[in-house]
Amino acid sequence: MDLKIEDVLSDDFIGKEVHLRGWIYRKRRMGKIIFVVLRDSTDIIQCVVEKKNVGPEVFKMLDKVGVESSLELRGKIRKESRAPTGYEVDVSMVNIIGPSYNFPISKDKSDEFLLDNRHLWVRSREMNAILKIRATVFDAIHEFFKNNGYYETQAPMFVTGAVEGGATLFEVPYFGRKAYLTQSAQFYLETLIFSLEKVYTVAPSFRAEKSRTRRHLTEFWHAEAEAAWYHNKDMMRDEEEMIVYIINAVVDRRKKELEFLKRDVSLLKNVDKPFERMKYEKLIEFAQSIGVDIKYGDDLGADEEFAITKNFEKPVFVTHYPRDIKPFYHRPDPENPSVVLCHDLLAPEGYGEIIGGGERIYKLEVLLSRMEEEGLNPDDYYWYVDLRKYGSVPHAGFGLGVDRLIMWIAGLSHIKYAIPYPRTTRRTKP
Ligand code: 4AD
Ligand code: MG
Repeated sequence: MDLKIEDVLSDDFIGKEVHLRGWIYRKRRMGKIIFVVLRDSTDIIQCVVEKKNVGPEVFKMLDKVGVESSLELRGKIRKESRAPTGYEVDVSMVNIIGPSYNFPISKDKSDEFLLDNRHLWVRSREMNAILKIRATVFDAIHEFFKNNGYYETQAPMFVTGAVEGGATLFEVPYFGRKAYLTQSAQFYLETLIFSLEKVYTVAPSFRAEKSRTRRHLTEFWHAEAEAAWYHNKDMMRDEEEMIVYIINAVVDRRKKELEFLKRDVSLLKNVDKPFERMKYEKLIEFAQSIGVDIKYGDDLGADEEFAITKNFEKPVFVTHYPRDIKPFYHRPDPENPSVVLCHDLLAPEGYGEIIGGGERIYKLEVLLSRMEEEGLNPDDYYWYVDLRKYGSVPHAGFGLGVDRLIMWIAGLSHIKYAIPYPRTTRRTKP
């Protein structure tokens, strides 16, 4: 049987012979004994290698190789309270598969060094825990959408227009013409609801964000959805269900990893429906009351959001933003057209915006007049405009920044820890 370390860390295995494969996590020699702490994808276990059991040749080889050497071994499990995970292997056979010498990463390395060596740092127990949480978040996103009648779909990465404003577009040469990397699948998802009604996609989005904050990447993972016949409140309901579903999935399935990261799980367990809905106007009043330097009409930057959401224990929906600070596609509130029927979801504990969404303009005249106000040429968006000519319907959607969600759930101090290979203004490798 192909056993993993996690499986054999159990009283059931005491006295049983097991075969394990993995990498040397720690190693120390005491005379004729070498203590190897072996790691695999699941956990670590101490392995005791005695010269008399494995022979002088193998013992010498094992003594020479360094941490991160890969090997397979065989031996009996016994209980050992002094071992890091409570059990150890009394090794009878060891076979070094891929030796490693002078592994560059040791304890005292700087953050920059670890980022330059991310291809090796992904092996760390910390990254292993984060990457497992990340995998569960992606699983849960797909499960949620599939359980709630959304069809998965795909949108192109090469596009010709901005969704979220021209300032953060990445231009790419495209056979003598210009193309851009997509900022959001939203407009394509809007086309697809006329066929599938409820759609979602999980894909990278690209932003040439010059802002160097702890929550901006130039390439991030975006889970976006769009639904026909939905209004702002319908979309918010699906979103809060989704967020609660994802958090429960991680809390249930990733206990060990959350504990390893020292995440305060009680704060996650505390997240339940419904989330508070707060108008932008009220949020500004609240921000002012706690001393944030902001006035009505200002957009919230990373610092303001941090100051505000430090005070939150649960996510909060902020609605009715002034239309001047939101992209053209948001539907103005018929009762007060100076604000739009949109929502941002702000995560608590200082994490800030994780979702942007809202109701879309579905009337042709309204869309054209908003485009004119913003100085956009409708020809550039002919296919988007077409949707308002042929059987338009009210609809709404949202985009969730998956890396930001992971950052919050795992309690990380920077978004670069939430993704295997972060892309920022200064980093495109490894
Ligand atoms: O608020 P944003 O810009 O909204 C849109 O792109 C909409 N078109 C989405 C939609 O309605 N379909 O981006 C949505 C979310 C943000 O709330 C944030 O979580 C994440 O995407 N995001 C980023 N994450 C990391 N790095 C960046 N540079 C991000 N920009 C946005
Ligand atoms: Mg936003």
